[in-house]
Amino acid sequence: MSETPVESLSVADAEAELSRLTAELARHDALYHGDDAPEISDADYDALKHRALAIEDRFPDLTSAATPSQVVGSPVSSQFAEVRHGVPMLSLDNAFSDAEVADFEARIRRFLKLPADEPLAFTAEPKIDGLSASLRYVDGVLIQGATRGDGKTGEDVTANLKTIVDIPHRLSGSGWPKVIEVRGEVYAPNDAFDAFNAAAEAAGTRTYANPRNFSAGSLRQKDPTITAQRPLRFFAYAWGEVSEPFADTQWGALEALKAWGFTTNPRSTRVENAEGLEAIYNGLQTDRAGLGYDIDGVVYKVDRLDWQARLGFVSRTPRWAIAHKFPAQQAQTVLEGIDIQVGRTGSLTPVARLHPVTVGGVVVRNATLHNEDEIARKDVRIGDTVILQRAGDVIPQILGVVLEKRPASAAPYVFPTHCPICGSEAVREGDEVRRRCTGGLICNAQLVERLKHFVGRRAFDIEGLGEKQLVAFHERGWLNEPADIFRLARDAEKLDQLRAEDGYGETSVRNLIAGIDNRRTIALDRLIFGLGIREIGEQTSLLLSRHFGSWSAFYEAGKAAAGGVPSPDWTRLAEGHGVSPRTLSVLAAAEPTADDPWPDAPLDQKLAFAFPGVAAPARRALAEIAPDWAAIRRLSEIARVEGPSATLGEIGGIAGVGPVAARAIAEFFHEPHNRAVVDALVAELTTIEDAERPQANSPVSGKTVVFTGALERFTRDEAKARAESLGAKVSGSVSKKTDYLVAGPGAGSKLADAQKHGVTVLSEDDWLALIGN
Ligand code: IVH
Repeated sequence: MSETPVESLSVADAEAELSRLTAELARHDALYHGDDAPEISDADYDALKHRALAIEDRFPDLTSAATPSQVVGSPVSSQFAEVRHGVPMLSLDNAFSDAEVADFEARIRRFLKLPADEPLAFTAEPKIDGLSASLRYVDGVLIQGATRGDGKTGEDVTANLKTIVDIPHRLSGSGWPKVIEVRGEVYAPNDAFDAFNAAAEAAGTRTYANPRNFSAGSLRQKDPTITAQRPLRFFAYAWGEVSEPFADTQWGALEALKAWGFTTNPRSTRVENAEGLEAIYNGLQTDRAGLGYDIDGVVYKVDRLDWQARLGFVSRTPRWAIAHKFPAQQAQTVLEGIDIQVGRTGSLTPVARLHPVTVGGVVVRNATLHNEDEIARKDVRIGDTVILQRAGDVIPQILGVVLEKRPASAAPYVFPTHCPICGSEAVREGDEVRRRCTGGLICNAQLVERLKHFVGRRAFDIEGLGEKQLVAFHERGWLNEPADIFRLARDAEKLDQLRAEDGYGETSVRNLIAGIDNRRTIALDRLIFGLGIREIGEQTSLLLSRHFGSWSAFYEAGKAAAGGVPSPDWTRLAEGHGVSPRTLSVLAAAEPTADDPWPDAPLDQKLAFAFPGVAAPARRALAEIAPDWAAIRRLSEIARVEGPSATLGEIGGIAGVGPVAARAIAEFFHEPHNRAVVDALVAELTTIEDAERPQANSPVSGKTVVFTGALERFTRDEAKARAESLGAKVSGSVSKKTDYLVAGPGAGSKLADAQKHGVTVLSEDDWLALIGN
């Protein structure tokens, strides 16, 4: 991707870019944590985050409560009760090479002061790629099961876990502690996962990207009878709180778990010393594809539990264990074609059609090619043999081409300049990497994608109207805009047709109507998100709904902003040429005379005279677009006449929204057809629920608060939500702008920072007293 390096971004570009990245990251967070359906690999996510942080680093003024440096984790609202783990659920440090494994062993020997000839035994256990769960047994009876959550607090999914065959409801044998939290991994076998997806695809219902997402999605079902139908399994490998010790070694503990009725992994082994680990690792890597479930490495654990206890933990990972990860899996195959998909906003995405190949036990047929620059950069041609990588995550990537295998006939790929669906011209604007179909309203692909987005889980989430039915109804000409969905629910003639021609039973028809009617009441943020406005993701919709509070306020602002949609000239100035909003306001205020008062002065001086207060770098940027006096006058006029409206400025000024999203809203409402579509939709709805607006007059409104340490009275998410609803800004780091640091036990560097900056430090109780409960 051709990206401007962060060092060369102008302030205006940086602001726009940061706002785009913030929205993009929020969307991926929601997809990953909320939907269990990530769209990008972990590495790509990290790259986005890295760029955002680099921008914030260079332009600290752009940091706000919503920008990536300040947002901690994903605010996932849960439908399950919270469970506080008796002992936190930790994660593991990773090793990617034999050298790192050797370091791991050396660290342990140093810490325990073990001489080199003292035996140090380990268990080596496959690292199951699922999700961990904790099962609490009291007197041998399973009383509660929870997900890992943030490690301290998880979700109560007892009923769901009870449906898994490997999880005993009552322990067998004897010798179990009175209280024990047994921990292990919930996973889905590959063949069962494939069968599920095949059936779901045929039925037009939701499919999952990989077994791990499938397991997470299946375990977090509201209705346990659905979980019961999913082929989940469980391997036990660890424990949390125990009322008394029950083993001397990790190996002994695994044996005990097995004796009590758990399934432990048959490939786990015990080695007498670290030299034995490499062979186990290589063996598992060779057999990986044939195991029947995904593993992404091998976990080594010090066998002696007294040593584990002495070694303890460094922050959130044990010193006595490490995950030796497998390298990403690669394969070669032939690129048979490139399909161009057209998205909701018209963007053309190239997808590689591959000769099917197995990568790490999974058959891959498609891979993303990102965009046309990426294809050009890698010079990927149809007929090429490509190197494919699947890194334990979602969409396989094409790393490059095997040039020696290129057929003589393979020609450079020419990216289409017209939409493959509607034939309209497809263009690239400014420095966008994506080419977009200009067909807008006449493009069927965009229409269908917009409808899919509208009924999607994070928008209107209409039960009984899956993608398959949606496409079928659209093909019949029944659905052309969101309002049509609601009209369908009261169209007796069409419903009759479903009964007569499509074999819909009475129950199916009733369910379809109920699914649609249920959504005539909708939350404001879901409605905004459902409109599918470019740049307006879920997080931005939430911010907009909180800012405006009601539909009418948002709608009026949208229309007002549309009145001041900046002209292409303005946009080129502001975005294309990196002229900052401040410079633009100077341009607008200046009134250059008709004749050039300094015909002989150099251009830079003319600019300095005409636009007093504009700094030299900005003048240089202006000089490129205004080479003479006439152009200088025109610049000023554009800034004055074609600049954005105040409302547009208001929207762009909302923390976390930014000018790019504001412009997208203005453009959306500028289009009369869009307004008609929105009006028709709103006419079909009965209630649009107002958003909760942050309080403006609480004791903490407008204050910046940081939470740190192990909070005991509330979870981090609760604390954040409460503070925000009271109008406070919650930040992740302490600076001189921080008003309060709320510190729980174990607060570390942030407490020191607060003392350094003279920030008021509160205990949890002080905080509760301050906010009045
Ligand atoms: S032990 C204190 N053993 O890997 C250490 N974890 O990256 C607790 N995992 O959250 C974990 N197989 O979900 C352990 N044999 C195994 C494992 C395993 C998979 C997962 C687990 C954990 C993650 C850490």
